[in-house]
Amino acid sequence: MRFHCLVVFFWMIVLEMVSTSTSPAASIIRKSFGTTKDGKKVEMYTLENDNGMKIRLMTRGATLVAAEVPDRDGKLADVVLGFDDVSGYESDKNQYFGCTTGRVANRISKGQFVMDGKQYKLAVNNEPNHLHGGGGPLALDRVVWTAERLNSEGQGQTITFRYHSKDGDEGYPGNLTLKVKYTLTGDNEIHINYTAETDQKTPVNLTNHTYFNLAGAGAETVLEHSLQVNADLYTPFDDTGIPTGEIARVDNTPIDFREPRRIGERLDQLIDTPLQGYDHNYVLNKTTAAELSVAAVLHEPSTGRTLTVSTTEPGVQFYTGNHLFGQEGKGGRKYPKRSACCLETQHFPDSVNQAHFPSVLLTPGQTYHQTCVYAFSVK
Ligand code: GLA
Repeated sequence: MRFHCLVVFFWMIVLEMVSTSTSPAASIIRKSFGTTKDGKKVEMYTLENDNGMKIRLMTRGATLVAAEVPDRDGKLADVVLGFDDVSGYESDKNQYFGCTTGRVANRISKGQFVMDGKQYKLAVNNEPNHLHGGGGPLALDRVVWTAERLNSEGQGQTITFRYHSKDGDEGYPGNLTLKVKYTLTGDNEIHINYTAETDQKTPVNLTNHTYFNLAGAGAETVLEHSLQVNADLYTPFDDTGIPTGEIARVDNTPIDFREPRRIGERLDQLIDTPLQGYDHNYVLNKTTAAELSVAAVLHEPSTGRTLTVSTTEPGVQFYTGNHLFGQEGKGGRKYPKRSACCLETQHFPDSVNQAHFPSVLLTPGQTYHQTCVYAFSVK
């Protein structure tokens, strides 16, 4: 009997090791992450590289749940906010932690836009605007994606999530076929590759909404991190976060991060503004549109951990967790206000209503492509 149990246990372990690369350390492991309130099973995948860096991804919202990254002494810490199981993500403690956001990330003024003479009305979930796909049950951060292929590709561990968003879901036109591929490379980079195709003209603006604290998720503040953003320009906005349409220089503003600056250094100049801190879209300096270039470098001095974010997108939204409220996350750790920040690579907010911004409209026959790289190092 005991022998049989051991044999069964052995095969369970073998089945969990979905894929292993040539190195004994690098692996992909699948586990249950719980069941959604409406009865859907959610899976979690752990990818590990040869350096011991691990990331965890779940099928709900094609979400980055954890990233265990070495500091300058090789000590690992999980640097992203999240929850221990899917029920945390379904609760009101979840503020888009780690998810894939869309169909249109960021804000759409009054939840409305006109395309080819027809008006579309979307959910208003961030008064008076539409935010991050609307927050309804069919928003991309809430639906359960299929993890379709598991493999170890050349230099990295890869998981591909797929989802088919139907014509009319959350008010958006067109059947949209989406693919989000995460790769953990041997040199501690997370690559996120997005593609989407549609059968009707429709707006698409995807992003990943991970909250980082490089001292470890649950550390009290992100304000001691330094940040550099590769942008001379940003998009000023009204009291509700909607761009005024102007594209302004960052010179002589607390928004200027062209040289590395401590995040907290000038934050008090923004506390009494409507969005209560940094929540700004930067217009990235690029030589050619859609090139993969560095958007921002985030550095935590006590651990040396450094995150370099690169993107093919024209913008990055820098958000200092102004609405975090001390909710309890992974391992019982608390996430106070401004204890993490997001660097959301994307097109500009409200692009559907601002003709001079780069277009977010996707037409049948075209393929939407986006790459975002989170590269971890120490200095
Ligand atoms: C984005 C927005 C913020 C906030 C967060 C989620 O970063 O720009 O204003 O809504 O998402 O809480």
